[in-house]
Amino acid sequence: MREINQKPHAIMFPYPLQGHVIPFVNLALKLASNGFSITFVNTESIHHQISKARGHTIDQDIFSEARKSRLDIRNVTVNDGFPIGFDRSLNHDQFFEGILHVFSAHVDELVGNLVRENPKINCLIVDTFYVWPSMIAEKYNLVNISFFTEPALVFTLYYHMELLRNNGHFASSENRTDEINYIPGVKYIMPTDLTSYLQAKDNISTPVHRIIYKSFANIKKADFIICNTIQNLETETISAIQKNQPFYSIGPVFPPGFTTGSISSSLWAESDCTQWLNKKPNGSVLYVSFGSYAHISKDVIEEIANGLLLSEVNFIWVLRPDIVSSDETDFLPVGFENSIKGRGLIVSWCRQIDVISHPAVGGFLTHCGWNSILESIKCGVPLICYPLLTDQFTNRKLVVDDLKIGINLCDKKSILLREGVSEKIKYLINGEKSEDVREQVKKVRKMLEDAMGTNGLSEINFNQFNKDLKAKIAENIEVARKIYNGWH
Ligand SMILES: *[C@@H]1O[C@H](CO)[C@@H](O)[C@H](O)[C@H]1NC(C)=O
Ligand SMILES: *[C@@H]1O[C@H](CO)[C@@H](O)[C@H](O)[C@H]1NC(C)=O
Ligand SMILES: *[C@@H]1O[C@H](CO)[C@@H](O)[C@H](O)[C@H]1NC(C)=O
Ligand SMILES: *[C@@H]1O[C@H](CO)[C@@H](O)[C@H](O)[C@H]1NC(C)=O
Ligand SMILES: *[C@@H]1O[C@H](CO)[C@@H](O)[C@H](O)[C@H]1NC(C)=O
Repeated sequence: MREINQKPHAIMFPYPLQGHVIPFVNLALKLASNGFSITFVNTESIHHQISKARGHTIDQDIFSEARKSRLDIRNVTVNDGFPIGFDRSLNHDQFFEGILHVFSAHVDELVGNLVRENPKINCLIVDTFYVWPSMIAEKYNLVNISFFTEPALVFTLYYHMELLRNNGHFASSENRTDEINYIPGVKYIMPTDLTSYLQAKDNISTPVHRIIYKSFANIKKADFIICNTIQNLETETISAIQKNQPFYSIGPVFPPGFTTGSISSSLWAESDCTQWLNKKPNGSVLYVSFGSYAHISKDVIEEIANGLLLSEVNFIWVLRPDIVSSDETDFLPVGFENSIKGRGLIVSWCRQIDVISHPAVGGFLTHCGWNSILESIKCGVPLICYPLLTDQFTNRKLVVDDLKIGINLCDKKSILLREGVSEKIKYLINGEKSEDVREQVKKVRKMLEDAMGTNGLSEINFNQFNKDLKAKIAENIEVARKIYNGWH
């Protein structure tokens, strides 16, 4: 029989992708600092990669430091259905097929064991893109919380998939290309700003599509949804969602101390760029990164490389070894690395927060991952956008069209060419030309800092969530007690 104890103890399941693990780790720290007990579950594969990136041959607990400062966070791993050595990036569809069909059986077994060992566990915090929370939460009588790590605009597009379908903007032979103006809380959005999955024409039953259909059917039953966004940046969209679901904007969830207190949950070893940056004038360096997940073609790399050369701007370029594909590791134009000596630094991965918070950095050429955008706003760094897949197209709209804190690398549908790349880079790094964007990013940064302050909306929403959750836990226990007494 579960104890009557209102202290929340949550099992947390991040999605096994870098961009999801980061906000989950930060959220775990925030919750634990607010009195929660946390059992944090990474997949064995993610756990192994993080340990390897930290230079440890044996698996290491990323929360050991946090525990020393008395935070109650336990580390556990679960098998995602594949052996450690399996190349998940190269076998993308097969991997997601496993996440869709096999993973839940491993989760079920693990949660069953955890709940038996520790009857104080009373809630489940799961990435919105998992398909099994209702099954697991109901089976083990846990309060279910869905954590959405992308903006509310993206959430609402998936939430209203049927509306898009019925209007011929998704999964329809009509292929409508006109403005979408009927989504509650979204004044307008162009079909080219939908997430890549909602723009798909030829195949709308890939494993990821089926994951999205199932997880967003599931979400309607979640007790709480928390979102890594800022209420003031998406006011109308969020109000519209709240008419249907309890939705709390608690973002951005950054590491405590931002640059100082972070735990490394990176999947790759990180280069330290500080020495190099220290030698560069303030605002002179463009930081270039396309994130942890998407691949780009050799042709695109070639145009960007040449654009960087033509621009004569200082830059740090993050190029993951698998940026093209894990079996294509020779992708830079011949002689490129020699021709950029002194003003360009190429690394395979780095601590992004340390780089963009450095005064030498004056711009960020980004794939528009949501973590990157939030971090860039926090550092007051304007953006050049080159979205590649998933929510990045929608995030671009927020950055360029709505918030006006960035510019496009190239116009939609036009081909990326080195001359254009060079022009955009020169424009953004030149403080006078890009003054409007720079002023605007300062304003948005102020909104972010206000939201994170003690009386800011993100804090108010977080405290409200905490209070509502405790009430729900108590109610859940009461229901369970009545059922139990009914049996005896
Ligand atoms: C979890 O942490 C404990 C204590 O630091 C450690 O002994 C154990 O190996 C870790 N387990 C995993 C799966 O990381
Ligand atoms: C969440 O939990 C409630 C009970 O607290 C249950 O009614 C609902 O079906 C669950 N939904 C999901 C998605 O787990
Ligand atoms: C819409 O696009 C699909 C896939 O590209 C194509 O097969 C179909 O003919 C198009 N329909 C119209 C009306 O253009
Ligand atoms: C859609 O893609 C999946 C794999 O991503 C493939 O198995 C399936 O055959 C494709 N369907 C169509 C209609 O092309
Ligand atoms: C560069 O920026 C830093 C931090 O804002 C500031 O302390 C420093 O004075 C600046 N240096 C120059 C030369 O402007």
